[in-house]
Amino acid sequence: MMHLAVDLGTSFTKIYLAGSGIVLAEPSCLLLAAGTGRVLAVGSEAQSLLAGSRELLTVVRPVLEGEIADEEAAAAMLSHFLRKVGIPPRRGHGMEALLSVHCGASDESLARFRRVAEKSGIGIARFAEAPMLAAFGQGLEPDDERPVFAAEIGGGSTNIAALSARGIRQGVGLTLGSENLDAGIIAAVSEKLGVRLRRQEAARLKETVGSLYTGDNASLAVAGYAGERPCTVTVPAADIAAPVRLFADRLVQYIRLVLQKLPQEEASFMLARGIRLSGGGARLTGLADYFSAALGTRAQLSDRPQYAVIAGAGRAIENADILRLVCLEE
Ligand SMILES: Nc1ncnc2c1ncn2[C@@H]1O[C@H](COP(=O)(O)OP(=O)(O)OP(=O)(O)O)[C@@H](O)[C@H]1O
Ligand SMILES: [Mg+2]
Repeated sequence: MMHLAVDLGTSFTKIYLAGSGIVLAEPSCLLLAAGTGRVLAVGSEAQSLLAGSRELLTVVRPVLEGEIADEEAAAAMLSHFLRKVGIPPRRGHGMEALLSVHCGASDESLARFRRVAEKSGIGIARFAEAPMLAAFGQGLEPDDERPVFAAEIGGGSTNIAALSARGIRQGVGLTLGSENLDAGIIAAVSEKLGVRLRRQEAARLKETVGSLYTGDNASLAVAGYAGERPCTVTVPAADIAAPVRLFADRLVQYIRLVLQKLPQEEASFMLARGIRLSGGGARLTGLADYFSAALGTRAQLSDRPQYAVIAGAGRAIENADILRLVCLEE
């Protein structure tokens, strides 16, 4: 049996231990001392240190757009997280892990994930594509042959696929995620209010007042810079409505593209059955209703959207039938 499942996300890393469930979900980042490059903190600790610090610190985010961008940093981060959940490096060598990768991941991409796993003390790494895992995480059964349409919207990537328990029929892995919306929000606030927001503040704004419901008009005070001067600015939802809408429209376009690749009959079946949304980015207020209206179908948000992939990976390591169905051939 496999021992653990790992979802190295652009924004958050999640770990599932067989027999225990989801044991970790922390920001995928490290804090280094500027100059020496010594690792000062990892994950949640790195994020809270950064928020309260005026020292010169370098933040490293080893996963970008769903891909390993910095192998050394990714391995340092994963080793730290594994120790934190009670897996010291020396115990790791016989350890088997299932890793989530994006839809259509290349051999080079898998090789990078494998090297990071090895450097972190994982003995054997196997891979499964995120949309399959998200579907099993939302209750798909291994003997269910009916097609499902899944959109998993993460921080740095989105995976859209028509699939069944037998595998993916049509799918795409996009380098478009909820963090792209953060960048759009930063640009909009800078243009409208003359204030440059930090990335985390833009994300907070998106998560609290970002909405696709016209007429929703909450506002939030966030911290930023006017020139070099730190300041606080109250941003109404209306001021970020344009990038929010643009983000949703781009996703709708890609969902349509995947539907168009299916035989007509299958696409109609999918639309009649509805689409399932997961990933942290799918939590954007009003997104499911917006998709439903734009696509003429029922879009349903998963229960714990950010944990759909790791929950599916967890089910797979505890159920040999599911594992066989999701594991990529190598
Ligand atoms: N309520 C919310 N509204 C909008 N976005 C949200 C909300 N809650 C979380 N998010 C966003 O979800 C993203 C994180 O989601 P998730 O953990 O699924 O990504 P990830 O797995 O790290 O990334 P990826 O799968 O792309 O590598 C962040 O960008 C975060 O801002
Ligand atoms: Mg993810």
